[in-house]
Amino acid sequence: MGEFHCPMGAAFYDDDDCINCEMCSAETDEQKVEASKKIRDYLKSHAPTMSPLKKIAVCGKGGVGKSTVVVLIANVLRSKGFSILVLDTDESNPGLSRLFGFDREPKPLITLLSRFSTGDRSPDAEWLQREQIAIPDIPAEYVLNRDGLKFMMVGKIQDPFQGCACSMADMTRDLMGKLVLADKEIALVDMEAGIESFGRGVERNMDTVLVIVEPSYESMTLAEKIVYMAQGMGIVRVKAILNKVPSEKVRERMIEELSKKSIQTIGTVYFDLELNEAGFEGTVPGGSRATKDIQTIIEMLLSKSE
Ligand SMILES: Nc1ncnc2c1ncn2[C@@H]1O[C@H](COP(=O)(O)OP(=O)(O)O)[C@@H](O)[C@H]1O
Ligand code: SF4
Ligand SMILES: [Mg+2]
Repeated sequence: MGEFHCPMGAAFYDDDDCINCEMCSAETDEQKVEASKKIRDYLKSHAPTMSPLKKIAVCGKGGVGKSTVVVLIANVLRSKGFSILVLDTDESNPGLSRLFGFDREPKPLITLLSRFSTGDRSPDAEWLQREQIAIPDIPAEYVLNRDGLKFMMVGKIQDPFQGCACSMADMTRDLMGKLVLADKEIALVDMEAGIESFGRGVERNMDTVLVIVEPSYESMTLAEKIVYMAQGMGIVRVKAILNKVPSEKVRERMIEELSKKSIQTIGTVYFDLELNEAGFEGTVPGGSRATKDIQTIIEMLLSKSE
């Protein structure tokens, strides 16, 4: 079993950050579920009602369009004068750097851990141990740069028996917790598919979770779980974005079903043939209908944040 991390960041039972949830002493499944409920209730009741739009996680089932939406959001925010740090945390799918038009990948952060490194632990790992990390603190080899966009990746599993992705998840959570963003800087995180990252608390330090939902039973059902978990982490803004929507009728149906699950929808990206065809080449075209749909969503998000 992996090392236990207190979800509140308490150093020991009963220190100032401890909420006496008893997760650290839970032995049976029932005790763990009970402790998890206490944490959820605590975080929900202590969640701030407003906060600036700074750290956005894009989540959802595999294939619903998370990476595509990340690219579209980054491009729209850049056109509004924001600097965007994109973090690719998907340990399986390659290609996000390509979707952004880069012809190479940055050095993966995971090489900072000796298990995933080809050599000794990198001597430049010190920056990751700091209490606060600003974007200029991150060594250049981990960041691709272009026109107000910085692109980083946690890493991909390359070889059999390389190990599980827990350490990658820990790294993402810790980095996002320590990251200090300047005015007009926003971090956008392309999450791995599904809800495993929530089980590991990766989204804990985000202020916004956008759940991408396509018109399918699996996607809608998973969205409900994601929203439940994100709200239980005390995340301020948890919203659904409908994607690949073929018609008004389907849009209305999706909104109705999601609202029955108490999920708020922030906007809709319609099925875009141009985007779909470009996906085959591993690119995202600018100026498509989907870009206009995302512009409307960004206006909504910015107007509802401080
Ligand atoms: N609004 C949309 N209209 C048409 N195709 C889309 C749309 N959004 C995404 N796609 C296509 O769906 C596929 C999966 O998208 P992707 O962003 O890779 O999903 P994920 O990151 O969730 O696995 C890609 O081929 C992409 O081009
Ligand atoms: S009781 Fe809960 S909050 Fe306190 S140290 Fe244990 S896990 Fe952390
Ligand atoms: Mg993806």
